[in-house]
Amino acid sequence: MKRITVKTLQNMKDSGEKIAALTCYSYQPAKIMDQAGIDLILVGDSLGMAELGYETTLPVSLEDIIHHTKAVKRARPRAFIVSDMPFMSYNVTPAATLEAAGRMIKEGGADAVKLEGGKISADSAKLLVDNGIAVMGHIGLTPQSVNKFGGYRVQGRSEEAAAELAAAAKILEASGVFSIVLEGIPAKLAEEITGKLLIPTIGIGAGAGCDGQVLVVNDMLGMDPEFSPKFLRRYENLYERMLEAFKEFSKDVKNSTYPSAEEEY
Ligand code: KIV
Repeated sequence: MKRITVKTLQNMKDSGEKIAALTCYSYQPAKIMDQAGIDLILVGDSLGMAELGYETTLPVSLEDIIHHTKAVKRARPRAFIVSDMPFMSYNVTPAATLEAAGRMIKEGGADAVKLEGGKISADSAKLLVDNGIAVMGHIGLTPQSVNKFGGYRVQGRSEEAAAELAAAAKILEASGVFSIVLEGIPAKLAEEITGKLLIPTIGIGAGAGCDGQVLVVNDMLGMDPEFSPKFLRRYENLYERMLEAFKEFSKDVKNSTYPSAEEEY
């Protein structure tokens, strides 16, 4: 079993094979994803909402990301593991950026780190790449800027904003990132950016023209019935299925039908 590397991902773009990516925060789902052939596992800071109950990604700490990256890493997946640099763990000082990314790689076991932002993050990306760290960019609807955007709004709709995003993608590519996530931008713009870059793009809410797609695992499994953005395809309805299972268990315990004689020692 050959592990996926930045080279594999680049070859996939070059040969036109799409990259399938999912977020993951724990050991057992990572093992299952790997068995399913997922190419890239993202220990995203969506962890904050999906697993830790925060309203945004902003409170997620470096310790949180390292802890969950370790759990994913213990699954020893063939998939390439990318971990999100938490809000304010980069772009503050070069030394802090390097230290945070270094810990994510050394302690967490990530293969690469991801940071949000275009031009503003290019120097941090270059610093990390120059120090031997594989870096993924992330532009468009970058959730760490939710307060600046005034909500989770599609970005790059105006001509000016689209040109700015296209320029940001080129700047990040020049800084040495191996791939860029395009989130929440018009499909046509994502396709244009993808066509202009040599490195692969991974889209979420950015249409079919990207080199790959990523979804938040809890969302694609239908864990939250309230969350249904247009781009989301639900592959399961785990909310309903878990609710039913928990109700059944509770009923069986209260009726004394669990455990049965066969379930006793
Ligand atoms: O944190 C995350 O899950 C992400 C993806 C949505 C790309 O950054």
